[in-house]
Amino acid sequence: MVNRTHDNPFSAILSGLLDQRSKGPKVAPVSEAVRLDGRTCLVTGANSGLGKAVAIRLAKRGAHVIMACRSGIPEAGQDVRAQSGSDQVEMIEVDLSDFGSMTAFCDELRDRNVILDAAVFNAGVVPVTSRRSKHGLELMFSVNFLAKFVLLNRLLRDGVIPNAVYGNNSRAEDPPRVIFVSSETHRSSIPIDFHTFGEPVEYGMSDGVKYYGLSKLHLTTYFQELSRRLNPGSNGENPDVCVHAVCPGAVNSNMAREAPAWLKPILKPVMALFFQSPEKASIPVDYLVTSNEMGAQTGEYMHMLRVKESSAPSMDPEKGALLWSKTEELLGEHGVI
Ligand SMILES: NC(=O)c1ccc[n+]([C@@H]2O[C@H](COP(=O)([O-])OP(=O)(O)OC[C@H]3O[C@@H](n4cnc5c(N)ncnc54)[C@H](OP(=O)(O)O)[C@@H]3O)[C@@H](O)[C@H]2O)c1
Repeated sequence: MVNRTHDNPFSAILSGLLDQRSKGPKVAPVSEAVRLDGRTCLVTGANSGLGKAVAIRLAKRGAHVIMACRSGIPEAGQDVRAQSGSDQVEMIEVDLSDFGSMTAFCDELRDRNVILDAAVFNAGVVPVTSRRSKHGLELMFSVNFLAKFVLLNRLLRDGVIPNAVYGNNSRAEDPPRVIFVSSETHRSSIPIDFHTFGEPVEYGMSDGVKYYGLSKLHLTTYFQELSRRLNPGSNGENPDVCVHAVCPGAVNSNMAREAPAWLKPILKPVMALFFQSPEKASIPVDYLVTSNEMGAQTGEYMHMLRVKESSAPSMDPEKGALLWSKTEELLGEHGVI
């Protein structure tokens, strides 16, 4: 397998373009006839780009869709309702860089007795230069990785996502599905430095993509570890909770919104011409949420419509366990868990 580099914005764009031409067997998209009536699906970052397209797809299938967003309320929800023809769509505000906001969001789901059949952790950010969250943590690390840990820690313990390990409310049939939107950039990332874990790093435009890849390596390592922890003793089949991740490939979304003014006139036409539409890019996410195959397995990683292994470091159980304990330590210091 060619391990492409994603060291700077140009090599990342090139890799994104080349990825679309990669070969190998693909899974078939799930028929539009498959329904999700009576199911509840959460999508984070659903006001824009890929997340919005996922919300529309799931709403079209009849799911009750909860759009967890920090902006676009209520317009994005109205748009998803109009485009899907469904009124089973609601928006809840959450800022995924703010622990207080995430706690309030989880409280609301718990207090309303919401039970999720699927949760798509899609929201992500690519700041043009390093920034810190209000808690002093680096923003990409916070939103692209840490927020998922914070939310799932609550959603699993509160039983909002049914599970035997933390929630004691496992579902006999149709295990819930937890889907992470990752990126192939995790593959060419620098290794996680556990000695400096959680310490804010400084980056500019030229090396920001490197740390984006690192945030996705954190996420992909977490996804593998979560899949193992929620399904002890499982060899990946007949799981209690199906935990999967996907790289959607290059998407013509609002991801490059922070790109400098001089770069936008180059980026916009390249993205419009060569990157997939969010609608097309949402097909593999929809597959992970709706296919029978992915409802009977856990720990699967997809790159667009191809099922493959995530990187070797992300699958290493020792690294997964270390990431878990370091994250708990960090969140403990912030009084979150
Ligand atoms: N675009 C690509 O080529 C590509 C390739 C591989 C993977 N991905 C991944 O795909 C996912 C979706 O990105 P996209 O391409 O659709 O980009 P996008 O259009 O910029 O969407 C990103 C979403 O994340 C939300 N978000 C960012 N920071 C947040 C915060 N602090 N709290 C709550 N929500 C926050 C954004 O909300 P606001 O609108 O309020 O900022 C937006 O809804 C990301 O995880 C990204 O890493 C994208």
